[in-house]
Amino acid sequence: MASLIQARDLTKLYRMGDETVHALAGVNFDIARGEYCAIVGPSGSGKSTLMNIIGGLDTPTSGRIVIAGNDIGAMADDDLAVFRNQTIGFVFQSFNLLPRMTALENVELPMIYGGIAPKERRERAAALLERVGLGARMTHRPTQLSGGQQQRVAIARALAGNPALILADEPTGALDTNTGKEILALFGRLNREGATVVLVTHDHEVAAATKRTIEMRDGHIVSDRINGGTPRHDAHL
Ligand SMILES: Nc1ncnc2c1ncn2[C@@H]1O[C@H](COP(=O)(O)OP(=O)(O)O)[C@@H](O)[C@H]1O
Ligand SMILES: [Mg+2]
Repeated sequence: MASLIQARDLTKLYRMGDETVHALAGVNFDIARGEYCAIVGPSGSGKSTLMNIIGGLDTPTSGRIVIAGNDIGAMADDDLAVFRNQTIGFVFQSFNLLPRMTALENVELPMIYGGIAPKERRERAAALLERVGLGARMTHRPTQLSGGQQQRVAIARALAGNPALILADEPTGALDTNTGKEILALFGRLNREGATVVLVTHDHEVAAATKRTIEMRDGHIVSDRINGGTPRHDAHL
């Protein structure tokens, strides 16, 4: 079966005056449907750049990224926006909720862009908030919620399009250890329920809760292993 994610020779260069930063310096990997994968590495190693490219939020300087058989670098902006809405759920370290909207309204937002009728989207948003354990907080605004609760709203929002792929960039980075564990347990459950989950972390305990760890350094993959098992393959630099 074709991989859900195929990354081929991805590079990303940033020119800063006379200097060129190789944020990604030739990255190759495949992620199959149903995987639960962590991307680890020191700050500046290219993790967020990679996640943004996988999620279609940014484009590579060269190389190809294919998601569910779609070469997203070759898609027109409008098509990409629709594809993203239907296929990918993004979760960020800082939650990125709209502060003036309730939890319910935040979760409804991608469904408004998705053209779903008001009654249906309200019902679906409520069901998603129930699913992440926030059924009793639907009309709260972000400032009236704890960090962990805000991240649950953000996860419910990411699930609004029933995405095949959930991408999370440091989703526990702004949370205390116990709350982080609860959020991690939620990702584990979503993965068992069928979602492919890729998360960035620099916490090795968080990575160990996933099934596969891809380690980056200076824009390269330096190791790729099944957690608790043997390496998948040696680093190709
Ligand atoms: N918009 C940008 N302009 C210039 N350099 C950038 C930009 N975004 C990221 N970088 C650089 O690319 C490298 C990788 O960054 P990033 O992907 O954010 O790393 P990580 O998420 O692993 O901390 C870093 O050296 C960073 O400074
Ligand atoms: Mg980052």
